[in-house]
Parts: sequence; C-alpha cells; structure tokens
Amino acid sequence: MREKLKRIKEEAIADINSSNSLEKLEGVRVKYLGKKGQLTLVLREMGKLSKEERPVIGQLANEIRNEIEKELSSAGNRLKEQLKIERMEKEKIDITISKNVRRLGHRHPLITTIEELENLFISMGFSVVLGPEIETVENNFDALNTPENHPSRDLSDTFYITEDILLRTHTSPVQIRAMKERKPPLRIVSAGRTFRFDDVDDTHSPMFHQLEGLVVDENVTMANLIHTIDVFVKELFGKDMKTRFRPHHFPFTEPSAEVDVSCFSCKGAGCPVCNGTGWSMELLGCGMVHPKVLENCGIDPEKYSGFAFGMGIDRITMVKYGINDIRLLFENDNRFLEQF
Ligand code: DAH
Repeated sequence: MREKLKRIKEEAIADINSSNSLEKLEGVRVKYLGKKGQLTLVLREMGKLSKEERPVIGQLANEIRNEIEKELSSAGNRLKEQLKIERMEKEKIDITISKNVRRLGHRHPLITTIEELENLFISMGFSVVLGPEIETVENNFDALNTPENHPSRDLSDTFYITEDILLRTHTSPVQIRAMKERKPPLRIVSAGRTFRFDDVDDTHSPMFHQLEGLVVDENVTMANLIHTIDVFVKELFGKDMKTRFRPHHFPFTEPSAEVDVSCFSCKGAGCPVCNGTGWSMELLGCGMVHPKVLENCGIDPEKYSGFAFGMGIDRITMVKYGINDIRLLFENDNRFLEQF
C-alpha cells in the first residue's frame, strides 16, 4: 500500500505539472482527491490493514493528500498569474500607434485669399475689424446715404428679415460701425459674407464675400486712394499690373470710381479673354466718403475726409486659382478643395 500511495503521489504531481489550464487542474484534483479519486479509493481500503499499520499508513496518506493539495494550489496560482499576464498583454494600449486618425484639413482657398488681403493691408497700416452678417437697414442703406428708392433696396434684391433687419448686401455697413464706434484717424479693412437675391450661375451666388476698406483722417485725398489701390494691386497680382479708374456712382462716395486692372491672362497686351482691351473689368468700387456719410456717423466733414473701397473676394480667388465656376467654392467637395 505504501508503494501504491507513493505512486499515486508521483503520478498526481506529474499530472499537475503537465496541466496547462485551470480546467485540467480541476480534472487532476477530481482524479486523485475526488469522491471516487484514486487516493480516496486507497483510503477506503484502510480497513483491510492491521491495527499497527493503519495509523502509519493513515498518516502517510494524509501527508500525501496535503502535498497534492499544496501542489494543486500553487499550480493554480501559477496558472492564474499567467492568465492575468496574457490578458494584460492583450489589453495593452499602445498610445504611439496611430489608427483611424482624423485627417487634418487645410484652409479653404477663400480664407487663404482673405488672409492674404488682410495681411497686405495690415502691412500698409490698416487694422482688421469684423461686422455682423445680419445688419440693420439703417447701417446697410440709410447711414450710407442710399435713398429710399434705390434699386438695391428692392425686395427682389435684398434678403429682408424684418422691415428694419436684413442680411447685409455689402460689407460697407462695417464703415458705419467703425466710424460710429471710433474717432478718426481710422484705417480699417473688414472681410466677410454678403448676401443678395441672385440666381446661381457660374459667376453668381446669393452668398458671396467682400472686403471693405476705409480711411478717415485730416487731409485724405483721392491721390491717397489711387496710390493705396495701385500698391495693393501690384502686391497682390504682380508688379507689372496696372490700374484704371473709371468714374462711377455710389451713394456713399463722391466722387466714386470703379477700378479695372490689367487683364489677368495677357497682363495688358490684349487677348481674347479681355476682348483685346488689355483690361479686366471691375475689380473694385471706391471713392471719397460722402460728407453726408461722415455726418451720419458724427464726424465733421469740414475737418475730416476719407476714402473707401469694396471688392469681391470670390472673383479675386477665382482669378488667383484659375477657378471657372463660383459654385465650386461653396460645394465643399473634397476632390476640389484638396487641390489648394
Ligand atoms: N459696396 C459696394 C458694392 O457692394 C462696393 C463699394 C463701392 C464699397 C464703393 C465702397 C465704396 O466702400 O467706396 O458694390
């Protein structure tokens, strides 16, 4: 019996050592220590032993049982520890791995143009101000000396929200805000969205962008205006680009002019794009701020004078990047935008 017990112990320990899962280990426990386990069965045969042998074998059997239990429990702990490590390996988060990273976009060509224009004017001593897209009729028309019967005020040209509130039809109301809020000398530019009731085609959109400029100080003259525009055009489009001032009418300036620049295609030589004239039409509108406008803003026209200009940013962007359809600027199609 001694031999049998020793063999059971050796076999049990070998089984324990070769168990590679908690399930198998439990199987080993049942095989040796369970109700019908090998050790249990041996113990049941104790009755057959002599009185002298019984306690000796009994003690040995207990020792073996304890030993097997000890081995089982330490093998169990080892396996649990190993499982924990494996799980942690699997759950490990590598924070240096980049997976499904959000793609970084870049500036829209319109924003790039606006920033370029703003930087140019900043370098000429202007500061950048902002104005709201929802404006009062007062700032958008009345204070700008635009008469009640002016065609631009018509319901079919302007998006009215109420009788007194509208979506600004140009950036010129920012002039009014600037002059009411600050005292001269003033040198500001302001870019942003503007709105007119236009049907969409490749050069028109009911939402478009303008940049407005305003200078008010003592002794500001038309010569200052012409020089400023000339420098701006040369900086933006190239040194060989010329400007041409054509008389025009705007209610808020007197005198007023529209400015053409050398044709972007032929730089002035004359080509089919400019119908042989050498000029690209209507880059911007400008003029000397009307005395009534100054007065409307509480500025003395006897003491101060000023010039102002406004230009369409969408058209400039289209010329700069060779875009032939204004709709492309607002469709937000990545295949288009990624080119810039
Ligand atoms: N507001 C005019 C427009 O939208 C553009 C303009 C013309 C702005 C003359 C000015 C200006 O500041 O002096 O057509």
